[in-house]
Amino acid sequence: MELRKITEDNIDEVIALEVGETQKDFIMATNLRYIADAYVLNAEGEPTIPFAIYADDVVVGFLMYSYDTLDHESFENEAFYRKKSYFIHHIMIDKHYQGKRYGKLAFEKMLVDIEAMPYGEAEYIALFYHTDNIKAKTLYASFGFSEPGIIQDNSIMAVKTL
Ligand SMILES: CC(C)(COP(=O)(O)OP(=O)(O)OC[C@H]1O[C@@H](n2cnc3c(N)ncnc32)[C@H](O)[C@@H]1OP(=O)(O)O)[C@@H](O)C(=O)NCCC(=O)NCCS
Repeated sequence: MELRKITEDNIDEVIALEVGETQKDFIMATNLRYIADAYVLNAEGEPTIPFAIYADDVVVGFLMYSYDTLDHESFENEAFYRKKSYFIHHIMIDKHYQGKRYGKLAFEKMLVDIEAMPYGEAEYIALFYHTDNIKAKTLYASFGFSEPGIIQDNSIMAVKTL
């Protein structure tokens, strides 16, 4: 299991990855759109890194995170309000490769990378997942993410202290 930066060698494969039909409601955007968002966020000064997930030299998934401040107004009463964080925008494993622990291994690898604070000091890791996405909930809980009770547009926030 390896995370590799998006290059001209793997971008087409990353864009072609797909989730299952019943999972389409769980994702906010396509991989192509996430890569476009990374371009914009980086240009706006928010370090954002999209990665291809590889298993045995095959592209099986995609993930992306940013270094940012948790300053949304709905976080106002939370301990993490206005604190630096690594924000996980997305993780997906292609439908043909799911259930083989690739998602868990990639997530774990990403957490290890983030714990080295590659873009600056931070106190939290945060993400959102769809309210019906039990697989994602179980995955994040297994790594110690907790839920402060913030729900936005059918998405539940989960946070872990670094
Ligand atoms: C969520 C996703 C990334 C998990 O990747 P995966 O490779 O299929 O999952 P893994 O085989 O690594 O399993 C990881 C963990 O998920 C949980 N999980 C897996 N299948 C599950 C199921 N049917 N029900 C509940 N939890 C499940 C378990 O915690 C599992 O760990 P365990 O085997 O140690 O118990 C992947 O299924 C996916 O891309 N889903 C569609 C996109 C998506 O929902 N992304 C998350 C957006 S927030």
